[in-house]
Amino acid sequence: MTTADLFTPLRLGSMELPNRVIMAPMTRSRAGEGNVPTPLMADYYGQRASAGLIITEATQVSATAQGYPSTPGIHTDAQTLAWRRIAEEVHAKGGLIAAQLWHVGRISHTEFQPNGALPVAPSAIAAAGESYTSKGLVPFPTPRALETDEIPGLVKAFADAAKRAVFDAGLDGVEIHGANGYLIDQFLRDRSNKRTDRYGGGVENRARFLLEIVDAVTTAVGPGRVGVRLSPTGTFNDMADSDPRALYTHVTEVLNPFGLAFLHVIEGQPGHHMAPPEGAPHLAAELRRIFKGPFIINGGYSKEQAEAAIAAGAADAVSFGEPFIANPDLPERFRRNAALNTPDKASYYGGDARGYTDYPALETADA
Ligand SMILES: Cc1cc2nc3c(=O)[nH]c(=O)nc-3n(C[C@H](O)[C@H](O)[C@H](O)COP(=O)(O)O)c2cc1C
Repeated sequence: MTTADLFTPLRLGSMELPNRVIMAPMTRSRAGEGNVPTPLMADYYGQRASAGLIITEATQVSATAQGYPSTPGIHTDAQTLAWRRIAEEVHAKGGLIAAQLWHVGRISHTEFQPNGALPVAPSAIAAAGESYTSKGLVPFPTPRALETDEIPGLVKAFADAAKRAVFDAGLDGVEIHGANGYLIDQFLRDRSNKRTDRYGGGVENRARFLLEIVDAVTTAVGPGRVGVRLSPTGTFNDMADSDPRALYTHVTEVLNPFGLAFLHVIEGQPGHHMAPPEGAPHLAAELRRIFKGPFIINGGYSKEQAEAAIAAGAADAVSFGEPFIANPDLPERFRRNAALNTPDKASYYGGDARGYTDYPALETADA
């Protein structure tokens, strides 16, 4: 048996990837009125269809799920239809696309909430940091703690969004966003979860919200179309946990019986802004050993680091974020050892085609 590399095909549940260069989910804040995806977004994703799998930007599962301007949703018919156009574009170019399903929880502002209500969260604890409102940066408000009997409605919103993504819009799968300090992560970690009901306390209770969502989503669309993203030592959005090893080894163990398409773990390379902070454990290798399905790693990987990770069995695939912003044909550039375009950070969030769909692909002539 030869060693796998970035160009060895890979099966993730019911998705057959032609390569292991996955596009990481990236918010670009270019949705239109009603948070409906635009034709420009279809161009953007279509340009990147040579990725082994595109994981879309985080996408709201409900009206309360939003926390930033112009991020797309997948809870109205207009949004769903627009995602269908995007899936068609990616499929026409031979690619695969999974929707990242998102609820921001406390990382929001009354401005983004229906009727100007407070954002919801496991506990009434404001995140340190600021929200990107129309009036500029404003401190995050103290959220409203969810009542226990509200939780089934949120779980259902994830399952309904998954059905829309797969059955109505025709995407190939979904990724449940359990990372980066958003609602699911807020339940997982004890800095943001101080609940005293069955969703708070020990790791079993804090994992319950995620597990109920995974159960509902896999029941809705089949486990072969469902992945989960986690950031075990991420600090973004004011996150921390008193014992990340105990929490995330438990979470990974209890995910095993679902037979998910993949587990996607963020753990930055040394020096990367998503690397575990000083003194925090490095958990990706341990979670890789525990998880019985395909494992995707992310966080500042170069082509060489990604190849080394796959060759060493540290992951089955690697996802790339910023390199895909500036290089629509990233797999081909990797294959040819070609130079990479440099991304323009000023155009990451919001705006038009500039810094979005105008990065050049390699000339096919110099193949
Ligand atoms: C502009 C931008 C937007 C991002 N949006 C999301 C997102 O919507 N969901 C998510 O899980 N991660 C998001 N991330 C994190 C990336 O998926 C990825 O974890 C990070 O960029 C590290 O990978 P990289 O070094 O290959 O870029 C975003 C990153 C960037 C640069």
